[in-house]
Amino acid sequence: MSDLRPAPDSSASELVAKSPSMRRVLALAERVAASDATVLITGESGTGTERLAGTILERSRRHGGAFLAVNCGALPEPLLESELFGHMRGAFTGATSDKKGLFEAAAGGTLFLDEIGETSQAMQVKLLRTLQEHTVRPVGAIKDVRVDTRIVAATHRDLARMVEAGAFRSDLFYRLRVVPLEIPALRERREDILPLARQFIARVCAENSCGPCTLRPKTLDLLLAYDWPGNVRELENAIERAVLLAEGQPSIEPSDLPPEIRGVEPREPPPRGEVLTLAQAERRHILAVLERFGGNRKATAKALDIGENTLWRKLTSYGVVRTRRGDEPGAAPAEDREAHEDDPVD
Ligand SMILES: Nc1ncnc2c1ncn2[C@@H]1O[C@H](COP(=O)(O)OP(=O)(O)OP(=O)(O)O)[C@@H](O)[C@H]1O
Ligand SMILES: [Mg+2]
Repeated sequence: MSDLRPAPDSSASELVAKSPSMRRVLALAERVAASDATVLITGESGTGTERLAGTILERSRRHGGAFLAVNCGALPEPLLESELFGHMRGAFTGATSDKKGLFEAAAGGTLFLDEIGETSQAMQVKLLRTLQEHTVRPVGAIKDVRVDTRIVAATHRDLARMVEAGAFRSDLFYRLRVVPLEIPALRERREDILPLARQFIARVCAENSCGPCTLRPKTLDLLLAYDWPGNVRELENAIERAVLLAEGQPSIEPSDLPPEIRGVEPREPPPRGEVLTLAQAERRHILAVLERFGGNRKATAKALDIGENTLWRKLTSYGVVRTRRGDEPGAAPAEDREAHEDDPVD
C-alpha cells in the first residue's frame, strides 16, 4: 500500500448506496461535508472508507482547496512525522532544505489521515495537539505554525476497543470522532450487492472494450448469498475476474466466479460430531493462538484484537495463568501481569 496518495477519486462513478443503512451513512456524510467538522470513518477492510472520504471532499466547501492523503500505517514514524508536520533544514541527516508538512500544504483544504489506528502513542499526542490548537511544529523548528486544515480520518480498526485496551488515546479518539461515520459490512447491506456488481461490470467492460455483459440469475443468487469478508473490494475483484473469464460472452456464468463464492470451497468446514459451545470454541481458539505465538500474551492479544487485560482475564479463568495472590480468576493488576510475563503456559 502506498504512503502518500492522490485524492480518492469519487468522480468516475456514483457512490452506490441503495441499502437503507448505506443511505443513512451517505446522508450524514453529505450533511457534514459542508462543515469543517473532523470526521472519523470506520468500517471493515474494503467497505469503502477511502471512497467515502472522497465523497466528503467532493461535497465540501473546501472543494477548491488542496486534498492530501496519507496512509499513517505505511510510513515509519520519523518519516510520518516529517511528512505531516514538515521539517527544517538540517533537522536530520538528509534534510537539505525546509519542507512544509502535509498539514500546512493542505491549509484551506482537507487532509485525509487513513489508517489512523496504526499510529503510535507518541504520534497520537502530536496529532491531538495539532487538532486542538490548529498549529504544527515542524521537526527541528522552535516555533509553531498555524494551520487551517480540515481532517478526515479513517480506520479499519475498532478504535473504541483499542481505547479500552489502552492502545489508542481516548482524548484523540473523542477529538476525531466529532462526526463518526460507520460504513456497514457488505453482508449487512445486501441490497447494495447488485447495483455495485452492475457498476463494476460496466466499468470493466468499458475498460476492456468488451460488449455489454449481464449476470445469469444463478450467478446473481451466488453473489447475494455470499458473505463478502473482503467487502466491496472483494466484490470488485470478483467481478473483474468474472468479466475477464467470460471472454466477451454476453453473460457471467457461476463458473466465472471464484471458487469460494461458488461455494465449492467452503471457508469453514461444517461441524461434525461434537458441537462446541461458543465459550468452548473461544477457549480453544485463544489457546491455539497463544500456542502459535509461543505463549507471548502481548502478540496473542494483538492478533486476537483484544486488550491484554481481557486476554489475561480469560486465561486466568481457564486456569492457564495464576495471579500471585492465588488462583482466583479475574483481572490482574499491572505489576502481576509484568511479573508473570514469562510464566509457562500449560
Ligand atoms: N459505495 C460504493 N460505491 C461504489 N464503489 C465503491 C463503494 N464502496 C467502495 N467502492 C469501491 O470499492 C473499492 C474499495 O473501496 P475503498 O478503497 O474506499 O475501501 P477501503 O475501505 O479503503 O479498503 P482497503 O481496506 O483496501 O483500504 C474501490 O475501488 C471503491 O471505489
Ligand atoms: Mg483504504
